[in-house]
Amino acid sequence: MDDRIISGETTDFDLGFEQSLRPQLLQQYIGQTQVKDNLSIFIEAARGRSESLDHVLLYGPPGLGKTTLASVIANEMNVNLRTTSGPAIERPGDLAAVVSSLEPGDVLFIDEIHRLNRAIEEVLYPAMEDFCLDIVVGKGPEARSIRLDLPPFTLIGATTRAGSLSAPLRDRFGVPLRLEYYEIEPLTEIVIRSASVFEVDIEHDAAVELARRSRGTPRIANRLLRRVRDYAQVRGDGKVTLDTAQEALEMLQVDSHGLDHIDHKLITSMIEQFRGGPVGIDTIAATIGEESVTIEDVYEPYLLQIGFLQRTPRGRVVTHQAYEHFDYPVPDMPRN
Ligand code: ADE
Repeated sequence: MDDRIISGETTDFDLGFEQSLRPQLLQQYIGQTQVKDNLSIFIEAARGRSESLDHVLLYGPPGLGKTTLASVIANEMNVNLRTTSGPAIERPGDLAAVVSSLEPGDVLFIDEIHRLNRAIEEVLYPAMEDFCLDIVVGKGPEARSIRLDLPPFTLIGATTRAGSLSAPLRDRFGVPLRLEYYEIEPLTEIVIRSASVFEVDIEHDAAVELARRSRGTPRIANRLLRRVRDYAQVRGDGKVTLDTAQEALEMLQVDSHGLDHIDHKLITSMIEQFRGGPVGIDTIAATIGEESVTIEDVYEPYLLQIGFLQRTPRGRVVTHQAYEHFDYPVPDMPRN
């Protein structure tokens, strides 16, 4: 999965790269206009009252800049950012260690917050609501609960699946924000900005082409830019022209819509083996040898977004646009 160039999920390679590209201020953060407009008001209001910002939940498909946004928020609030993730917090003590080291107003970023276990969530509720920790010390008859006061802080939770969050946890976020896939224009701007940070000479048309094939996802755009830069360096004179970009993307098997061999396999097996559906997600997963959650979180959202797949109560259905894109005769079906 991780070797897939158009996966939105982070790889170790992306980490350092993204760090160096990270905008510092909301104003430098490209796209997601609605999210930025909302945030700028809440940030200004909190700053005006010298209070910590309300807890923020960022949700949406992987690679759209949730971690980046968390660091921008901390920076705008002029506070420290502490970063951890749902799977990294195994015991209540792990959480206690992190929150008790916060300074007033700090931002605690918990990535993949839907993967926190219930015992941790229970500790998190009073921490979020009343800025205190109830922890049990000792065992058996000696055990007792002690209450620790915490400084006010802002929890920023990030998740690809808001639906998997328990309702009590979801309700404790004052500011839920949904990140959307980027349009071509802001994505082109991101490619151009990244190219200038890395001193890559790129034609405007080539930047647009990369944006078009990046599934609305900055992480993918930046990853494609790195590969196309390599191609231009080895096969050309280093300048990324539209031609070199197209050749490189062809070599990487990323098609005009940014789809790769796995999307291809997913759609074509639905067409060939299930007459285009409806098919249940577990059946699709078993047929193409991927996990259902991976299909739901990573592959499917974009296919739904561009109208190649539809979700119905009876399962997923391939649309006529997908039949046309993959060169299959369009069966008799309602046009949508
Ligand atoms: N890098 C990744 N996402 C970005 C964004 N939205 N704005 C600026 N740079 C980015």
